[in-house]
Amino acid sequence: MKTIFSGIQPSGVITLGNYIGAMKQFVELQDEYNCYFCIVDEHAITVPQERLQLRKNIRSLAAMYLAVGINPEKATLFIQSEVPAHAQAGWMMTCVSYIGELERMTQFKDKSAGKEAVSSGLLTYPPLMAADILLYNTDLVPVGEDQKQHLELTRDLAERFNKKYNDIFTVPEVRIPKVGARVMSLQEPTKKMSKSDPNQKSFITLLDEPKQIEKKIKSAVTDSEGIVKYNKVNKPGVSNLLSIYSIFTNETIESLEQKYEGVGYGEFKADLAQVVIHEIEPIQKKYYSLMESEELDEILDKGSEKANFVASKMVKKMENAMGLGRKRR
Ligand code: AQP
Repeated sequence: MKTIFSGIQPSGVITLGNYIGAMKQFVELQDEYNCYFCIVDEHAITVPQERLQLRKNIRSLAAMYLAVGINPEKATLFIQSEVPAHAQAGWMMTCVSYIGELERMTQFKDKSAGKEAVSSGLLTYPPLMAADILLYNTDLVPVGEDQKQHLELTRDLAERFNKKYNDIFTVPEVRIPKVGARVMSLQEPTKKMSKSDPNQKSFITLLDEPKQIEKKIKSAVTDSEGIVKYNKVNKPGVSNLLSIYSIFTNETIESLEQKYEGVGYGEFKADLAQVVIHEIEPIQKKYYSLMESEELDEILDKGSEKANFVASKMVKKMENAMGLGRKRR
């Protein structure tokens, strides 16, 4: 079986973007691959986090992975900081990367823009991400489109390490979904939907109440044309809503355009809200029952045990390749 690794930051509640771009893929792929799914809390602290909120988000994200359908019998679910190999390998990969290539990452540029104090961790986020992936001999990384550039860098760093030290890493492929790879903000539809966006109206989380979902979709930015038609350049807001509708109902964009021909945005938005509510209702039910159970800790304990076993072996290989420490007998 080939191996998959992917992670999500506990930097807020999962949005429709994270769900469509990443989690839905994970669920589909877990039967065919040896999967590692990670709660990447060490990535989350590259920007300021409130301690208690972070702890809450970590647990919540673990429950969310299971609620959307990750089966712990098939996939290994764990918390990054509970596997020290990630930080160790992250440092080694940081030393293999160049400042110039890290400064060119668009996520770094976006997240540091206009900020007075930017942590150096934000700059070295991609080598840590490369370490996360390379520790497990990963063949495939399912992510949303925003992570494509980081994945390209991961491949470059793996190849650089293999060439310079020892050929120990599998060079992973990226898997980006054909539809829904970039779900856009409901308020600024030319920008991607993000869970840490300060504007709460810009995203829908998987824990939003039906009333909130109705309100957020109702106030989603569209245009003044009143025509439900897909046109990413000229009608980014309507196109984004059509994509979400199509993904959750499996109806094609064309058939949705026909269905809402001559009908204003009001009816279209009201129907979409019901589609979204219908999709996430069962997830929320499962989520709340998991949050109250002890099962969650047992799953995370087992996950970190397995991840530690696999990842620590790769760290030893990396250290040997780079000449760190003493030669082990
Ligand atoms: N808008 C999106 N559309 C499709 N996929 C998305 N992903 C994120 N936003 C969208 C995918 O979700 C996975 C987890 O992302 P992450 O938490 O590791 O970091 P991110 O990509 O930076 O996501 P956010 O929501 O924007 O987080 P914050 O606000 O903390 O930066 C990845 O596979 C990502 O591609």
